Amino acid sequence: MRLNFNYAKESLPISLEEREKLAEIKERLEKKEAMLDWLDIGTCVSQETLIQIEELSKKIRSSCELFLVIGIGGSYLGSKAVIDGIRPYFSEEKPEILFAGYQLSASYLVHLLEYMKGKKVCVNMISKSGGTLEPSITYQKIYQYMKENFQDYQERVIITTSPHQGKLRDLAIQENLTILPIPEQIGGRYSVFTPVGLLPIAVSGIDIHQLLEGAKSERNCFDDSMQYALVRKHLEESGRVVEAITFYEEKLSSLASWIQQILAETQGKEGKGILPIINPNTTNLHSIGQYLQEGRPIVFETVIQVEKTEDIPLKEYKITMNELNHLVLNQVAIAHKQVALPSIIITLEELTPYEIGKLLYFFQLSAAIGGYLLEVNPFNQPGVEAYKQLVNQELLKSG
Ligand code: PA5
Repeated sequence: MRLNFNYAKESLPISLEEREKLAEIKERLEKKEAMLDWLDIGTCVSQETLIQIEELSKKIRSSCELFLVIGIGGSYLGSKAVIDGIRPYFSEEKPEILFAGYQLSASYLVHLLEYMKGKKVCVNMISKSGGTLEPSITYQKIYQYMKENFQDYQERVIITTSPHQGKLRDLAIQENLTILPIPEQIGGRYSVFTPVGLLPIAVSGIDIHQLLEGAKSERNCFDDSMQYALVRKHLEESGRVVEAITFYEEKLSSLASWIQQILAETQGKEGKGILPIINPNTTNLHSIGQYLQEGRPIVFETVIQVEKTEDIPLKEYKITMNELNHLVLNQVAIAHKQVALPSIIITLEELTPYEIGKLLYFFQLSAAIGGYLLEVNPFNQPGVEAYKQLVNQELLKSG
């Protein structure tokens, strides 16, 4: 993984105050303050749980055609990012992996229940709090279906939740279901390397050891994550308050959603933070690309580039299609530089579990450092609670 700031001059200089602040942040990370257990893979997942995940995934892969992951926000975005990033397009590989409980579309649930009919289904319900509205509602309906349709339903439903408390944990114990633990000191959006991400990823057949090795290799790369956080801070201060998370490889679409979540929920609070938007290219060069080039100068872009992919030769241009995609990426960065729109380019050699593990860890670390630089709490999401309380008030009235 390589970072290129050539198209963004805002990286330097670093003020004395910032230097001191960064030294202080480094110390907080080294001391592993509260909610920082994601820093070490060993505290994301114990050896014992890792073995349990491997055994469960083997069993699921041999007995199940459809694996359903129920969760919202940090409880599903990480595994979806890795699975969509690695699994081939249009794959018929079994088990098929579907996600639910990340929205409240009744129509989606009706169609899903219909689609499940006659298939060998396994379910992974994921919620740290155990009480989030969208996955809870979905789970009730899916669990009822599992009970009605599978004699061995207790073998087919796995609950990933807090190891010590919560409604979901109590329910799982009561129903004699397998429970995987989410460490207390790890928040949802930082949980991709815990059982939250690992079980669905392992079920998809992706090598979770390589993913974790990639993450571990970034553990001491504070400087890269720090530099990205600092450049973003400088850009925000210069009025660039929107970040286009840009990618030219469709497989990165879910990864961009994960990046959007970790940056927005970590830093968008107390009237501060950059608004990350997802920008698939070259698709968006024909829509919001116009705004980026000539609209209000409030945007910068972070481009995720993948060097090697499957490829097709284009005889008429004497280059390959992947080379053409890179050519467009570079020319867009130049066109943006001409109008002073900064681009940061992050290059992955290939979409492998190892490289994706590195990238996810890099963003986790950088998001947290950026939160500390803004002097906000990187690990809460009080703004999300606001809507939940208002919904609950109304539900109490009608219930
Ligand atoms: O990052 C976070 O903490 C959130 O996005 C949560 O993951 C999300 O709200 C789901 O919460 P829970 O796992 O408690 O259902």
